[in-house]
Amino acid sequence: MTTRRAFFRQLCISAAALPVFPRAMGAFKAVSVDSIVSTEPWWKTGIIYQIYPRSFQDSNGDGLGDFPGMTSRLHHLRSLGVDAVWVTACFDSPNADNGYDVRDYRRISADFGTMGDFDRFMAEAKKQDIRVILDMVFNHSSDEHEWFRQSRSSRDNPYRDYYFWREPVNGGPPTNWPCAYGGSAWEFDKTTGQYYLHHYAIKQPDLNWENPKVRHELYAVLNFWAAKGVSGFRFDCAGEISKPLPFRDMTLAELKDNVIDYRTTGARLDEYFKEMRAATSAYPDLYFVGEGWGMPRDRIVRAVDDRNKELNSAFRFDFMLQNIRDGWRNLPWSLQRLKDFNKENQFDDDPHVWPIVFIEDHDFSRSVSRFGSSRPEYKDRSAKLLATMLLSLRGTPLIYQGEEIGMSNFPFTSVSQYNDIGVYNLWKDLVETGKVPAAEYLANNAITSRDNSRTPMQWDASSQAGFTTNSKPWLAVNPNYLQVNVESEAKERGSVLSFYRDLIRIRKSKPTLILGSYHDISGDHPQLYAYQRSGSSGTLVVLLNFSDEPTEFRLPISFKPKAVVINNVPQGKATLSASVPLLPWQSLILE
Ligand code: NOJ
Repeated sequence: MTTRRAFFRQLCISAAALPVFPRAMGAFKAVSVDSIVSTEPWWKTGIIYQIYPRSFQDSNGDGLGDFPGMTSRLHHLRSLGVDAVWVTACFDSPNADNGYDVRDYRRISADFGTMGDFDRFMAEAKKQDIRVILDMVFNHSSDEHEWFRQSRSSRDNPYRDYYFWREPVNGGPPTNWPCAYGGSAWEFDKTTGQYYLHHYAIKQPDLNWENPKVRHELYAVLNFWAAKGVSGFRFDCAGEISKPLPFRDMTLAELKDNVIDYRTTGARLDEYFKEMRAATSAYPDLYFVGEGWGMPRDRIVRAVDDRNKELNSAFRFDFMLQNIRDGWRNLPWSLQRLKDFNKENQFDDDPHVWPIVFIEDHDFSRSVSRFGSSRPEYKDRSAKLLATMLLSLRGTPLIYQGEEIGMSNFPFTSVSQYNDIGVYNLWKDLVETGKVPAAEYLANNAITSRDNSRTPMQWDASSQAGFTTNSKPWLAVNPNYLQVNVESEAKERGSVLSFYRDLIRIRKSKPTLILGSYHDISGDHPQLYAYQRSGSSGTLVVLLNFSDEPTEFRLPISFKPKAVVINNVPQGKATLSASVPLLPWQSLILE
């Protein structure tokens, strides 16, 4: 097995120290491939893969994925060519929100195994040269966390200020804040006659970061896992840890816009991030990536600017949220908005900011079902087109489990098929109260629900797709597993999986794709997304036909294509002329 370093060395040799112009240091300056690879941190040149442990691989037949299962599948990630794995919420939890309600930050969830299983996972990942990133849910804990049990027990308990407690106002909640999962964000607790704040479920009370004791407890948790060798952390709800204080009612306008935008306006966010970084200074290379949901661009830029020593990067959701309203309603998406978002998310004019690029994660439905073709004959081709975009933009690409085989949405027809608190609560709030007809809610939810991306990983064509031996996995396997699975795609040259493997190899052999500048050249083309990536070794042009119709694209006169780097229509010949014809959903990278 080649190690990651050896793999890069090999590429560097074959690329013959090609000069390139990374823009990461401001003004262009020529450096060799070798020096780029060795001077940039791994999280700039690398690719991250997200595992949703509950659905990745079950090893003991209980219908839930686990650490031994993940360990047994690390070779899949190795052969894909990724550099790091983000293990989604995996700590001890009563699972009110599938692990995003942590009962003990220093224990692995018993559903997923023991600390010994985790340690074996870490050791195997190290052997395979794959780094591990853990998911830190620090905006809130579980109501079953010892801190909260203490906190709610009496008004003068030493843990009382670990959470936000407020008196009732006019006999009701202290403010009009809604909870992300329906109802009020305040829950009355009769033991002490006060309300506590929970941005998410009632079982997810928000931690009070104003209290330095809370912060230091959480920083100690980071050091605990860093000592176990993890390479970084993804911070859940990162923008919400600092609260807008003093609490007041949101205005109607604030309530109408995404309420989370208001919740991320707390004044002390940068201070907390800086303090968190300083508190983990024994591990200066830790990669910190925040979930920037709700945070405006300028706040994200400040938090990830490398001079500020806060986060390294943050997920931005501006584009991902554009076609979902109120957490369930599906709206048409727009290619122009994708182009606009990418343009302002490439940051190639800012040497201090490095983006993370993704079109799928555990909180959204499958990208091929959202942004790809609805025609079955173009499904795989559009999955490959999306891969071409994901792996040719500037920023760290995040591949979500199953995306690399083109997993698509589940055919949900009834509310009982879901396993998501958000779906159940909205059903109660909207359908059971008669505000929205059941059929309308179900039809929209089937398209937008995050459970679409949480169905078990499809490994092979055996029963339950090789995910579990249990006939009842925690969420049903997508019936398309007979066609869409790792084993069959690994054998097929033209599969989505083979395409991902090729693309990843190509990205790693062409530093211009990683560090080069980005320039949108689509003009006002309605269905084609075209951009160029440039470095001193030349220019690459990416052409993406987001349509069931063929089209043609006139290349800029300054670009004379010499070769096709990759084509998602293997049998289709790409024309290297000034005007390039493209088949439906065809994607090309030219050089
Ligand atoms: C964002 C996580 O990604 C999501 O899955 C979770 O439900 C919420 N934060 C609350 O922790």
